[in-house]
Amino acid sequence: MRLAEQIEGDWEAALAALAWQYDCGVDEPVGDVALDRYGLPELVRPAAAPVTAPTERAKAPPPVQIAETPKIDPVAEARHAAALAKSLEALRDCLEHFDHCDLKKGARNTVFADGNPKARVLVLGEAPGRDEDLEGRPFVGRAGQLLDQMFAAIGLSRSSPDAESALYITNVMPWRPPGNRDPEDSEIAMMRPFVERHISLVDPEVIVVMGNTPLMALTGHRGIMRARGRWAEAHGRPLLPMTHPAYLLRNPLAKREAWADLLTLQARLRG
Ligand code: URA
Repeated sequence: MRLAEQIEGDWEAALAALAWQYDCGVDEPVGDVALDRYGLPELVRPAAAPVTAPTERAKAPPPVQIAETPKIDPVAEARHAAALAKSLEALRDCLEHFDHCDLKKGARNTVFADGNPKARVLVLGEAPGRDEDLEGRPFVGRAGQLLDQMFAAIGLSRSSPDAESALYITNVMPWRPPGNRDPEDSEIAMMRPFVERHISLVDPEVIVVMGNTPLMALTGHRGIMRARGRWAEAHGRPLLPMTHPAYLLRNPLAKREAWADLLTLQARLRG
């Protein structure tokens, strides 16, 4: 006799049989007759309503409009934010609140600037390295020490209170790129409005760019080895490209040319 026949009419026996099957691992009921599930909607479809002219209420509702999230243009955001900064403090604050650059997520500090904002010379570097990221000041590692020595050789220092002999130092990128990789063009483009605003707030007489990243940010092209030592112009100011001090640490022979570039700068400042 089949199980179904044994328990017919006896709900306690039916429940016990179900529990027993469940204990045996049966977790899915299978019918005796194959069921065409593809055909099922046809079976359960309600009887067709008589065809009448659709009233306003019976008409299909209008399709739901899903608003597209507006795409953010980080360069436009940067331009807008930078234009609002009316002082160096405001610009620093504005960078600290700018969240469109992914480099910021991996950085410990926003490295803004160092030196005397009244300086005649503004030095623009690339991006903070490990030491700068830890300390929150630009050019404090080995390359920074060489940079200080180089400019000291022509009488300029970031700690000078006298505008004549002072330096103001900042970078294109205020956040350290992972593994000290070069900043990407998109990252440079995003920071360009801040750099331009920074320059106009400090209003230096001369800009010195150290390496390819600041050359790219201010002139739109790379090629520091060809450009170094030759006066160019950016934002209506004289601009002197120089090789980066980190490059000079790796290639000490290139210090000769860097010295020539420093003398070019000194001659210009002496008028
Ligand atoms: N290199 C740079 O270009 N900037 C720094 O601040 C440190 C190293």
